[in-house]
Amino acid sequence: MRKKVMAANWKMYKTPDETRDYFRDFLPLVAGHDRDEIVVCPPYTDVATAIESARGSSVAIGVQNVHWKADGAYTGEISAPMLLCLGVTHVIIGHSERRQYFGETDDTVNLRLKTALESGLTPICCVGEVLQEREAGLTDDVLRRQCVRAFHAISAKKAAKLIVAYEPVWAIGTGKTATPELAAEAHAVIRSEAVEIFGEDFAGQLRILYGGSVKPDNAKALMSQEEIDGALVGGASLDPKSFAAIVKY
Ligand code: 13P
Repeated sequence: MRKKVMAANWKMYKTPDETRDYFRDFLPLVAGHDRDEIVVCPPYTDVATAIESARGSSVAIGVQNVHWKADGAYTGEISAPMLLCLGVTHVIIGHSERRQYFGETDDTVNLRLKTALESGLTPICCVGEVLQEREAGLTDDVLRRQCVRAFHAISAKKAAKLIVAYEPVWAIGTGKTATPELAAEAHAVIRSEAVEIFGEDFAGQLRILYGGSVKPDNAKALMSQEEIDGALVGGASLDPKSFAAIVKY
């Protein structure tokens, strides 16, 4: 049985004060909830506040990107050692918004993944097709290609902490959720590619989250699919009541 991971991606929202208020309201709502792992990924500027606010709870704090070098002349970047010393445990890698707006490629996803795994962070690696690719019947090919390139030259042993998130780009922030069956089909493709790359044992343990307009009213149907091992939630994670309702689907 794979333990589900319910993760919040705040994207570029909230100040430190808003972060403090959020945890004040959110933590009592999920106190004692140990069925699922809970992760909140705020912007970098809120990380210290989030870690301080979540101390003593079971909520883990992640970030939304990491550079592949430990340090150097890379203006505007943040490294794994910097995150680890704050107490960050998770990192989202290869989100479609980074691919779409910030030049992220399958190759840079691979570099970031290797660094995250080597440094002991738990990466949540995002894959997913755009609408045009789905309509052209290319979804499986795209998912397989993204996995092959993202996981290039990473051994099953090294990848132990890996989490994958299937985020169909057409479902992100649009209110159009993939049906539970359609999401499960895509997850099965990703898992079968993981069998090819890492082997059957590894793939059987791999958590694959669904992301794309997950809301309190569709979380249960999605999470009931055996193939779906959790959620990566954008918009609906910004409100503590709404994210708590999703966590407790
Ligand atoms: P929404 O939940 O707002 O559709 O965003 C999904 C997402 O991109 C999570 O990473």
